[in-house]
Amino acid sequence: MRKVKIGIIGCGNISGIYLENLTHTFTNTEVFAVSDISEERMQAAAEKYGVPNQWTAEQVLNSPDVEIIVNLTTPGDHFKFCKLALEHGKHVYVEKPLSLLPEQGHELVELAREKGLLLGGAPDTFLGAGLQTCRKLIDDGYIGQPAAATAFMLGHGHENWHPNPAFYYQAGGGPMFDMGPYYLTALVSLLGPAQTVAGMTAKSFEQRTITSQPHFGEKIDVEVPTHIAGTLRFQNGAIATMITSFDVWSSTLPPIEIYGTQGTLLVPDPNNFGGPISLRPAGATEFKEIPVVHQYAENSRGIGVSDMANCVLNGGTPRANGELTNHVLEIMHAFHESSDSGSYVELKSNCEQPRPLKTGLVKGYLE
Ligand SMILES: NC(=O)c1ccc[n+]([C@@H]2O[C@H](COP(=O)([O-])OP(=O)(O)OC[C@H]3O[C@@H](n4cnc5c(N)ncnc54)[C@H](O)[C@@H]3O)[C@@H](O)[C@H]2O)c1
Repeated sequence: MRKVKIGIIGCGNISGIYLENLTHTFTNTEVFAVSDISEERMQAAAEKYGVPNQWTAEQVLNSPDVEIIVNLTTPGDHFKFCKLALEHGKHVYVEKPLSLLPEQGHELVELAREKGLLLGGAPDTFLGAGLQTCRKLIDDGYIGQPAAATAFMLGHGHENWHPNPAFYYQAGGGPMFDMGPYYLTALVSLLGPAQTVAGMTAKSFEQRTITSQPHFGEKIDVEVPTHIAGTLRFQNGAIATMITSFDVWSSTLPPIEIYGTQGTLLVPDPNNFGGPISLRPAGATEFKEIPVVHQYAENSRGIGVSDMANCVLNGGTPRANGELTNHVLEIMHAFHESSDSGSYVELKSNCEQPRPLKTGLVKGYLE
C-alpha cells in the first residue's frame, strides 16, 4: 500500500505525538514536510522524525506532493490554514476546535464539499480502545436504550504546565472550546448527533498567573467564560448534563457516565485512548470492570489522520470528519449563546454517528 504524504503546519507542544504516530505507528502515512515559524522547533521535529522537508506554510500549501495538511497551530489560526489548504486543493485535518466561529466551521464544510476534498479534525480519542469498547457495549444492547448521560471536566486550567498558556484564555479557548471537543465528540460517537442546548456560563477569575516556565509570574487577562454548565438533548431523546470548568481546584465527579434503560456504563476519560470501563446492569449489586476489546489503548493521536489517509487511498468519509467536528463546534457555541440569550438553542448542523472500528485490528491498520 502506498503511503499518503502529510505536511504538518505547527511543530509545537502537541506535534510530537502526531509525528511519532504518523511516522512509526500508522502504515499508510508519511510525514513529507514540517513547518513552523520557529526555526528551532521545526528543525527539532524534522531531525527527530527524519522528515525530509522543512518548509514555510506557503511551501507546504504549494507543494504538489503533499496530500493532507495537518494543521497543528493554535485555535486562532485553525480557520485560516484550513481554508488555505482547501483552496490549494489539499485535504486538511485540524487540531480542535475546528475554528473560532460557527460560521467559519460551516464555511469550511461547504468549501470541502464544493472542492471534493476531505476535511476532518481532532479529537480522535473516540477511535481509541476505551471509547470504541463503550460504543460496542451500547450498540450491542448492554445498557438498553441510552436515556441520559453526564459529562464533567473540572479543573483549574493549564497555566501551571503549558509553556505558552495565554491562548487558553482567549477567543477559541476556555474549558468548553479546549476540553469540550473530547467530551462532546465522545457523546456524539456514543449517542449520535444532538438537537437542543441550554447553558449558563461564568468567569470566576479576571486574571491568571502563569506558574510554568518560561513565562513564570506573568499575568494573563481572561477574555472568555471559564465555567460552563448546561444540558443537551440528543436526537435519540437522551439528555446529557455537562460541566466544563477551569475554575475548580478539585472535584470527584467522573468524566462520562451513560444511563440506559437496562444499566449504567462508566466511560473512561475521553482525553485518553484506553480504559477503565465499568458496567452495572439493572438489578446487579455492583459495577464490573470491562476489559477493552479494541486496538489503540495507548496515545494514538493521529489515528484520525490515518483514517483520512485511508479515504484518500480508497474513497469514503473519514470518521473524524468535518461534519462531526463542525457539529461539536456548534454545540460548544450553543452553550455560550444560550447563556447570553437566556433561551434554548436549536442546533442547525447535523452529522452522522461515526462508523465504529472493528475489533481485532492489527496495530497500524484501521480496516
Ligand atoms: N498541548 C496539548 O497538550 C494539546 C493537546 C491536545 C490538543 N491540542 C491542540 O493543539 C493545537 C496546538 O496546541 P499546542 O499546545 O501544540 O500549541 P503550541 O503553541 O505549542 O504550538 C503551535 C505551533 O504553531 C506554530 N505556528 C503558528 N503560526 C504558524 C505559521 N504561520 N506557520 C507555521 N507554524 C506556525 C507556532 O510557532 C507553534 O510552534 C491547539 O489547537 C490545541 O488546542 C494541544
